[in-house]
Amino acid sequence: MTRIVVLISGRGSNMRAIVEACRDGRLDAEVVAVISNRPDAAGLEFAARQNIETATLDHTHFDDRNQFDAKLEALIDSFNPDFVALAGFMRILNKALVDRFLGKMVNIHPSLLPLYPGLNTHARVLEAKETRHGASVHFVTPELDAGPVIAQTEVPVLPSDTEQTLATRVLLTEHELYVHALQLCVSGTARLGNDECYRGTLKSTAQRGADSALNGPQ
Ligand code: GRF
Repeated sequence: MTRIVVLISGRGSNMRAIVEACRDGRLDAEVVAVISNRPDAAGLEFAARQNIETATLDHTHFDDRNQFDAKLEALIDSFNPDFVALAGFMRILNKALVDRFLGKMVNIHPSLLPLYPGLNTHARVLEAKETRHGASVHFVTPELDAGPVIAQTEVPVLPSDTEQTLATRVLLTEHELYVHALQLCVSGTARLGNDECYRGTLKSTAQRGADSALNGPQ
């Protein structure tokens, strides 16, 4: 069985979606461990209740980023994963760690990459008066949020949107998107270096709902 280690920093709703998809067979894999850099990450409790191994590596206990990343690499390695899924993991990883898991490490980012890498994507999208927004799952490469995209979802930005309503709409699509993108990886369809696989877009159930709210049923 394909082994996935999920890294979180907080709520962990994407991690939960991945775990549930493994359990109900939509994702042909097993979450073997959930690692957090924050001891208070709410997602840890869910994982523990599911009898998934959890580990915390508190970055505030390290003076030096490279020391933290070296320890994290060893911790991830100890679970012998086929894939490492960053799911709301709020740490920038150094090149050595990224290179170590190149082609095996994926991340979910709340924007239509290559648009809006970095933080505060929803606020920046509203500020720029964009009409479309979304989420992307991409392979992690040393440059932040710049690795090849595996799959994306798109949602409309509504005139009435606040940062919160937009974040909620995007998050609803993220869960299905992450499962879809991971299944592409697990099945070998999406591989780093195989340009063919980067074209997939997923119209999620939530997005279809948003489309029909805007444009009528399709
Ligand atoms: C998601 O919006 C994800 O795209 C971003 O951080 C958020 C994490 O949410 N990287 P959760 O912890 O998975 O609920």
